[in-house]
Amino acid sequence: MRTTVGIIGAGPAGLLLARLLHNAGIDSVVLESRDRAYVERRQRAGILEQGTADVLRAAGAGERMDREGLRHDGIELRFDRTRHRVDFPGLTGGRSVMVYAQTEVCKDLIALQLREGGPLLFEAEALAVEDAGTDAPRIRFRHEGREDVLECSYVVGCDGFWGVARKAIPAGLTQVFERTYPFGWLGILADVPPSHDELVYARHDRGFALLSMRSPAVSRLYLQVADGTDPGAWDDEEIWDELERRFETDDDWYLQRGPITQKTVTPMRSYVHEPMRHGRLFLAGDAAHIVPPTGAKGLNLAAGDVVTFARALIHRQETGSPELLDAYSRTCLRRVWQAERFSYDMTTLLHRAPGATAFEDRLQLARLERIASSRAAETDLAEAYTGFPFGPAG
Ligand code: FAD
Ligand code: DHB
Repeated sequence: MRTTVGIIGAGPAGLLLARLLHNAGIDSVVLESRDRAYVERRQRAGILEQGTADVLRAAGAGERMDREGLRHDGIELRFDRTRHRVDFPGLTGGRSVMVYAQTEVCKDLIALQLREGGPLLFEAEALAVEDAGTDAPRIRFRHEGREDVLECSYVVGCDGFWGVARKAIPAGLTQVFERTYPFGWLGILADVPPSHDELVYARHDRGFALLSMRSPAVSRLYLQVADGTDPGAWDDEEIWDELERRFETDDDWYLQRGPITQKTVTPMRSYVHEPMRHGRLFLAGDAAHIVPPTGAKGLNLAAGDVVTFARALIHRQETGSPELLDAYSRTCLRRVWQAERFSYDMTTLLHRAPGATAFEDRLQLARLERIASSRAAETDLAEAYTGFPFGPAG
């Protein structure tokens, strides 16, 4: 088999890239190790930056998002039993975000790809990327019990943190920056209307909590838990009790409970692999970088990477110049590091590290007070949350 762009992974990065290339008349093949049902059900991110929503619309994949997604103009910060709303449009010249789950983005892109795009093979596991440093890279993969080879002009590794693409870059040429956190998130889905119409990020002496949503009838909530926690160790009432404690305020706000339909624990990590390119192999999304989820940047970074790659390849096809492809890693990393900084800041602002001292607690509260009382500090948060620009300007 032969194609112009071999894409490993049908998460948001791989699927959006295939769509952008299809729209530009560039052929691609997507290889995905899991089956379609698994990819469409994997519960992950929920917030699209305005730039990501705009890209999906421009790619012809925004129709259901615009019908069913929820535009959000702010978030609430909750600390010391008080509430502070951050107004995005007022602070950023009109920007907002969209609540539309990653599962739905993937469903929409898969349906479009299968209807109009090039091959998208499920249960096709990439085993290795070969000859990445040459003009003819190849992906060795296994599909329907047989090993096969996909000959490519370019390979894009969109295969997430545990994928194989990154391993094709010689270790001597790479640098890895990493930090792990001594806590994780217990995430639940519950069949109950969200108790607030915007997201609530809560800092509490017992730890962080987040109220989010998937629709007007389905809540998504998260609790900071100790690293390595087994989700089965928390029964449903215990989860609601703990959420209630961490969200409590001095006014009459209350948390509505409902049946919990899913429970998972996510570890927290910051990770950047530099460079994001070796020869004709390009890394995009979680294959190249991970952020802790506080601030919802993971999916949005993945979208930024593939937009940057698609623009660069189109430029190469139209002008013959490799200039933007050569700048790919540098261009993406500028935006990646801004998201790493923001996600780290939000994580350390809102979580209680085990063994945190009273001094550190007071500093967290002082940082939150600063955001609540200074338009400059609040604008910094609003700009980062609604998203940094895609492409060279970022
Ligand atoms: P992925 O979505 O990981 O997709 C990679 C794809 O490649 C997968 O479908 C995988 O099956 C496939 N693959 C892997 N190896 C191979 C192979 N060898 N051959 C073929 N295919 C392969 N972000 C937020 O903003 N908010 C959140 O709440 C949030 N929660 C998260 C919870 C979890 C458990 C995880 C893991 C991530 C979460 N994230 C969250 C991050 C966000 O979901 C990711 O940043 C986003 O999925 C990145 O998209 P991606 O396409 O780069 O990678
Ligand atoms: C969601 C996840 C996040 O990491 C976040 O900061 C906000 C919302 C969510 O899954 O809805």
